[in-house]
Amino acid sequence: MSTVYASVVALVAVRATLAFLPAHILSSPPIAVLNALSTIVGCALILSAALYLFNTLRCKIGLRNFGKRRDGKALQPPPIPYAIPWIGNSPSFLSTKPHHFWSTLFEWYPRAVGACSIVLGGRMANVLFSPVAIQHVIQDRTLGREEFNIDVVVNGLGISKEECERFYGYNTPVKEGEHPPHHEQDKINVDYLLKAEKVNELTAEFIKILKERISDQFTDRSANHEIELYKWLRTLMFDASTISLLGSKVLEVCPDLEHLFFQFDQDMLSLFFGLPGWLVSKAVSNREKAVSQLANWHKVVRDQIGTKVPDPNGMSWEPLYGSRVNRARQIFYEKRGVSIRGRAALDLGMIFGISSNAIPATNWLLMYVLESARPERQKPGERSLYSFIMDEIKASQNENGTLNISILINQPILLSALHEVLRLYVDVLVGRTITQDMALALGAHSTSKSGAPSEPTQSIQLNSGTLLMVPSYPAHTNPDVWQSVYPHHPQPDVFYPYRFLTSSPHDTTTKPVFSTAHTTGSYFPFGGGKTMCPGRNFAKQEILGALAVVLLTFEFEFIGYVDAKGNTTDKFPGLRDTLPGSAVMAASGDFKLKVKRRD
Ligand code: HEM
Ligand SMILES: *[C@@H]1O[C@H](CO)[C@@H](O)[C@H](O)[C@H]1NC(C)=O
Ligand SMILES: *[C@@H]1O[C@H](CO)[C@@H](O)[C@H](O)[C@H]1NC(C)=O
Ligand SMILES: *[C@@H]1O[C@H](CO)[C@@H](O)[C@H](O)[C@H]1NC(C)=O
Repeated sequence: MSTVYASVVALVAVRATLAFLPAHILSSPPIAVLNALSTIVGCALILSAALYLFNTLRCKIGLRNFGKRRDGKALQPPPIPYAIPWIGNSPSFLSTKPHHFWSTLFEWYPRAVGACSIVLGGRMANVLFSPVAIQHVIQDRTLGREEFNIDVVVNGLGISKEECERFYGYNTPVKEGEHPPHHEQDKINVDYLLKAEKVNELTAEFIKILKERISDQFTDRSANHEIELYKWLRTLMFDASTISLLGSKVLEVCPDLEHLFFQFDQDMLSLFFGLPGWLVSKAVSNREKAVSQLANWHKVVRDQIGTKVPDPNGMSWEPLYGSRVNRARQIFYEKRGVSIRGRAALDLGMIFGISSNAIPATNWLLMYVLESARPERQKPGERSLYSFIMDEIKASQNENGTLNISILINQPILLSALHEVLRLYVDVLVGRTITQDMALALGAHSTSKSGAPSEPTQSIQLNSGTLLMVPSYPAHTNPDVWQSVYPHHPQPDVFYPYRFLTSSPHDTTTKPVFSTAHTTGSYFPFGGGKTMCPGRNFAKQEILGALAVVLLTFEFEFIGYVDAKGNTTDKFPGLRDTLPGSAVMAASGDFKLKVKRRD
């Protein structure tokens, strides 16, 4: 806004000065150019102001109609005002201040309307807040996400349009009795990444590597070991999840992969949103560094075994390509004629799924658990989150000390705390493309506790060719939902580990049960429907497994918080700046801890 004011003031000053200049100076070439320029800029400013006023009026009228219409006619979602055509709401939407767009929007826009529309890079996007509508969209399996997939692969991963088409086959006619390639990819995920027995195999491999990696850490008991939690955890989990999914060869060929990946991860979204090249040159160069390393891995493996990828139905893990799911993917790339560079880029996408979410999620969970164990946080007569969770972890151990993962991932307090981390720290924009006109019910504007409809259902009109966007942040923090279910819970912007329990664990008369009842359409950290995260089952086991192994092996003593620059601070880490839609958000700081091995 201040740039707008500054340019208006500058323009007025220029025009005022020009008005006092005599005619012969005005006609001199530089002054004439300045005169013409200021006229053009002035006209542009007047036009944008007029457009902004016009859009504000449209929004006001839209909002009035939403309160009034009772005849069941579907209405366009009210448009959020903007000043420049095509660019639309992008400047505010693409702010890197976490949740900036939504928090400024709800300062004036009534959330209870259930929807709005925005313009991003020339496209209109219908945005949903209503749990009823969100639930409907997530369940509707006819709504796809082709365009978003293409954006991720072409803009984000730098694969050519032609190769992307070869990979997904969106526009290629399918032969009788055959499935389009993207179905085949979904099937690979279902068969090798979602099924319980495969997830258990992956988890076992992950835990095995994690234990190997920590077996020789901090063994000197007389020494004083200090760590920064996230820095330490990131390497540990990156190695264990990369090796369990992609094999050990990849880290031998690319020892620098963790560093390169997280550099890419920081700016990946600026590529996805298709910002102009000069703005994203750093992101492109980071991506290319990571891709070329991964391409080296493919070349090395190829020199060893040619194109014969080990059978995904053979052994559960092997060093060259790792897990069954990765071998099935590699065979699929081969079948689709994907180039080495293309494979490396798609693998980078896979690493993105694996590493950019589960690692920060584990970090948030560990930070809150360790925070609760600090002596100065203890309340008389009240047990800490740490003590509850240690009990649950110990109850999941076999007699010989190994973990029984299926018991671990059903512990109510661990589950509740994990879901609370994902509620508060996941930022996803579930996207869908509207391919034919449709009306979508927003549900009644009911605010009554009983949930009884107090007004007839309002519908919105969605036009073919527009986008549909379901942002998680407004839904995950909607006070109407999260406070109406359990009115005694803290506000939804606060981390409350027991939010998903039927009763507080401090209440010793009842056993708390984990439950996500009443959160339909208001909680979707893994996206939803057809495009829901295929790694969700593994992610839960990986996060809770890593937490349990770390807490069973080490004892931590809190030293202090550090900020993004590594300086000590007295603030619990906040959110790192990032574009919207980054899935699990990273912390802006870290915990400094003293570590000791347990006996
Ligand atoms: C807490 C951890 C995780 C969260 C919150 C998360 C979240 C998500 C979300 C929101 C999407 C997009 C879904 C949509 O648009 O509807 C996604 C996609 C994906 N995730 Fe995850 N994810 C996590 C962990 C993982 C893990 C551990 C893996 C791999 C083992 C994984 C693999 C993928 C893949 C491959 C996709 C792309 C699917 C496609 O486009 O077909 N994710 N994830
Ligand atoms: C530990 O015990 C479990 C179950 O009792 C068993 O499945 C596992 O193989 C044992 N592991 C070791 C290392 O002894
Ligand atoms: C884990 O515990 C469950 C329930 O007690 C049991 O059925 C299962 O066999 C155990 N798994 C292992 C690997 O010990
Ligand atoms: C933070 O640390 C850097 C060096 O690491 C130092 O230059 C800077 O002054 C510190 N900032 C504060 C606020 O202490």
